[in-house]
Amino acid sequence: MLNPGSPRPRRLRKNDSVRNLVRETGVQAADLIQPLFVIDGDGRPEPIGSMPGQFRHTIAGLCQECRELFDLGIQAVALFPSLEASLKSPGGEESCNEQTLVLRAIRPLKEAVPDMQVVAHIALDPYTTHGHDGVLTPDGQDVDNDRSVEILSRMAVLNAGAGADFVAPSDMMDGRIQAIREALDEEGMSRCGIIAYSAKYNSAYYGPFRDAVGSSKAAGTTLLSKAGYQLDPANARQAERELVLDELEGADILMVKPAGPYLDIIRLARETTTLPVAAYQVSGEYAQIHAAAQMGWLDLKRCRDESLLAIKRAGADLILTYFARDVAATLRGA
Ligand code: PBG
Repeated sequence: MLNPGSPRPRRLRKNDSVRNLVRETGVQAADLIQPLFVIDGDGRPEPIGSMPGQFRHTIAGLCQECRELFDLGIQAVALFPSLEASLKSPGGEESCNEQTLVLRAIRPLKEAVPDMQVVAHIALDPYTTHGHDGVLTPDGQDVDNDRSVEILSRMAVLNAGAGADFVAPSDMMDGRIQAIREALDEEGMSRCGIIAYSAKYNSAYYGPFRDAVGSSKAAGTTLLSKAGYQLDPANARQAERELVLDELEGADILMVKPAGPYLDIIRLARETTTLPVAAYQVSGEYAQIHAAAQMGWLDLKRCRDESLLAIKRAGADLILTYFARDVAATLRGA
């Protein structure tokens, strides 16, 4: 027997009504951004093997998908082009082609669903033969930071001009947020916001994404590892520095990526800035839950919901997640 007056915290967990009353965190469709892959042509959507339920959409399919997402309550999408190999080059020139796939996709998407917030991916990896996020120095041993920033700024202006509501630089070059902010403002595009991938780690959890955009060719090998620009998973203080710098340079929203293995960094971001904090539950986090569920080892829906709740609890205001559509459908009772 407990003594009279002993604490009994279980009182607040005794039934659904009480648990619902005291619940601190929740995930809503409006918090979620659905990443979507785009391909050219007018065929059927291509399933992505390592990401069950995710597809590469044609432009027409993308517009239809966005209509359905918006009806489910998803109000933002992040676009990633998947280009045919012939359009890739060491310099990634296709990224600044005014007719490039993603620019041709944004206009019809905004016409189809004007209130859908479109987040444009600013990095060169879908466009380079080597899969790096920038162009390389002449000896091929490093990314050329400053030249890459120039190209990324141009890309940002083109994407904003096509109608993107946000540009999201995911390259981790130094100084890119300020350069992009200045380029956008000089071109009269001050309305376009910046979601900075500020604390982006050199993570093994990006594997399925690299399959999806075909950037895995060299990335991950010793020579072409992204360790020279993405953060070392061992470090938290460098993440804090990147977060502070990106805020000072003019970012509107700061992002941590991946999400689940970096909950401490999400909390750090929450405590470091007054800006909204985004977290990207990346392809590998999605894939591992699906894989275990397919084996019959984990419950897909419960792990999905728990993983997202944990990311919110850590302090994320918004979450990029491949589960966005499914979660919204569940919330709708669909
Ligand atoms: C590259 C980029 C990557 C992702 C988003 N942008 C992969 C990488 O850095 O190689 C990964 C997203 C995911 O895994 O879902 N700029």
